[in-house]
Amino acid sequence: MEDLCCIRLGLAWLIWSIRRVCTLAVDSRPNIILIVADDLGWNDVSFHGSDQIPTPHIDRLAKQGVVLNNYYVTPICTPSRSSLLTGRYPVHLGTQHNVLYATEPWGLGLKEQLLPEYLNGLGYTSHMIGKWHLGFFDRKHLPTRRGFKSHFGYWTGHADYFDHTAQEWTEWGLDLRDDDELVRNLTGHYATDLFTDRAVTLIANHDKSQPLFLYLAHLAVHSANQYDPLQTTRRYYERFPHIRHPGRRLFAGMIAGLDESVERVYHALVRAGMDNNTMIIFTTDNGGPAAGFDDNYANNYPLRGVKDTLWEGGVRGTAFIWSKLLAKPRRQSTQLMHISDWVPTLLSAAGQKLNDKKLDGIDMWSSLSNGGPSPRKEVLLNIDHERGIYALRRGQYKLILGTTYNGDWDGWYPPEGETSRTRTEERATTICGPVPKVRATSCQPMRSACLFNVEKDPCEHTNLADDKPEVVQRLMNRLKAVNATVMPPRNVPADPQGSPRLYGYAWSPWKE
Ligand SMILES: *[C@@H]1O[C@H](CO)[C@@H](O)[C@H](O)[C@H]1NC(C)=O
Ligand SMILES: *[C@@H]1O[C@H](CO)[C@@H](O)[C@H](O)[C@H]1NC(C)=O
Ligand SMILES: *[C@@H]1O[C@H](CO)[C@@H](O)[C@H](O)[C@H]1NC(C)=O
Repeated sequence: MEDLCCIRLGLAWLIWSIRRVCTLAVDSRPNIILIVADDLGWNDVSFHGSDQIPTPHIDRLAKQGVVLNNYYVTPICTPSRSSLLTGRYPVHLGTQHNVLYATEPWGLGLKEQLLPEYLNGLGYTSHMIGKWHLGFFDRKHLPTRRGFKSHFGYWTGHADYFDHTAQEWTEWGLDLRDDDELVRNLTGHYATDLFTDRAVTLIANHDKSQPLFLYLAHLAVHSANQYDPLQTTRRYYERFPHIRHPGRRLFAGMIAGLDESVERVYHALVRAGMDNNTMIIFTTDNGGPAAGFDDNYANNYPLRGVKDTLWEGGVRGTAFIWSKLLAKPRRQSTQLMHISDWVPTLLSAAGQKLNDKKLDGIDMWSSLSNGGPSPRKEVLLNIDHERGIYALRRGQYKLILGTTYNGDWDGWYPPEGETSRTRTEERATTICGPVPKVRATSCQPMRSACLFNVEKDPCEHTNLADDKPEVVQRLMNRLKAVNATVMPPRNVPADPQGSPRLYGYAWSPWKE
């Protein structure tokens, strides 16, 4: 009798323990807020040292979390977003060559599994706000068919911050959707604030029995339409009387909106009691369009190059991760990381180890949380043989062959309108070391591969190709090995049937 009682008690205890472990496991799935800034440069946030455009709210979260200072993205929008959501390199998705232009009937392949789909499998509810840019020519490619329960935002690559129309060459139309329905009544509402309002509402109304995945892909700080590219509100603009350059000042206003957005999203999480179990990831999609590139005035200084180049200014991304779940927060990480790592990293944090050979992304969760060496040794920066451009980083070295725009955007571009030039130069020297006398001429990537030690020389001043032919050869062999696995680009020519004129001047799916 006593024995039986013991067994019963033992069983009850066992069941209780198993339940408890299960509940804990379930409760440990963190909410994930993935904030993507569009076209934000290395030198556009004050946590990288610039005092020209203060970003106090972004900085506070960055400093409480882990700042990712050795983190690579791809040089333009569509490749970066496709890699971010699939965990694969653009060359393995066919998205490595150029962005998706709005009348082209293609998109991210339907066979790919996307981050929200993975997370939904673990019981998450996934929502998206903002820019898609991965295909909308037919409904099957829309975010609402690809794992997101809702989408409030736009489908093309950019839009007007106030009237929400997008212009591409001679085509022009409205591009704001709420769950695929056209939104006509929000003209005059500033896009950054509008998207933030929606994020705050979503968080406040979130049913906490399920973890939340929110993909907040801002329009900021991309340029709007060509006829009025830089747009901010008076409230944001007036914070920057010290910036004398009109373009850079407008741009600073756009950043201020983004900074306020991060603050409001954070407070919404605190109010909802979700901040203890949430990860906020903040990342740019590519380097900044500096010095008037794309009609914009972002900045990557002292890094070299701009958006759409494979110099560090084009691909070393501004990013951080904030979470109370990080074991060793409050640090600057030099762990090598790539944008494709988020899929396995976030799934790992949510309790699922992905073991899929197709993925190029590497699970960084343990090393991001605990510090220690990065499991990643190499980053393919891109292969685009239609344009003859190749770059790869392995360990401390980076090989670059070929260049965009015939070398026109291969320089170093200090921020416009800065009051203290000496401070800018001082900061640059801290990061780059002293600038050698012969530099620009020593590397001609159109003729032959250049080699940089980007650990010692992140500003890519000194081409080591002649000194270290064996390293060039080693990296070249790696590039060739990856080159053999490249998928043909998915890009197809524009289709006149995609013109928004045919749909009441609204960008719309045009194929079934
Ligand atoms: C816009 O229209 C939607 C749908 O009819 C409505 O719910 C919303 O309140 C409107 N917003 C504004 C600012 O008028
Ligand atoms: C979050 O964690 C802190 C510290 O452990 C605790 O004081 C607070 O009550 C927690 N808040 C919620 C909403 O769980
Ligand atoms: C990469 O492969 C393509 C063929 O797929 C070839 O044309 C090109 O020369 C290769 N590039 C390098 C650097 O090996």
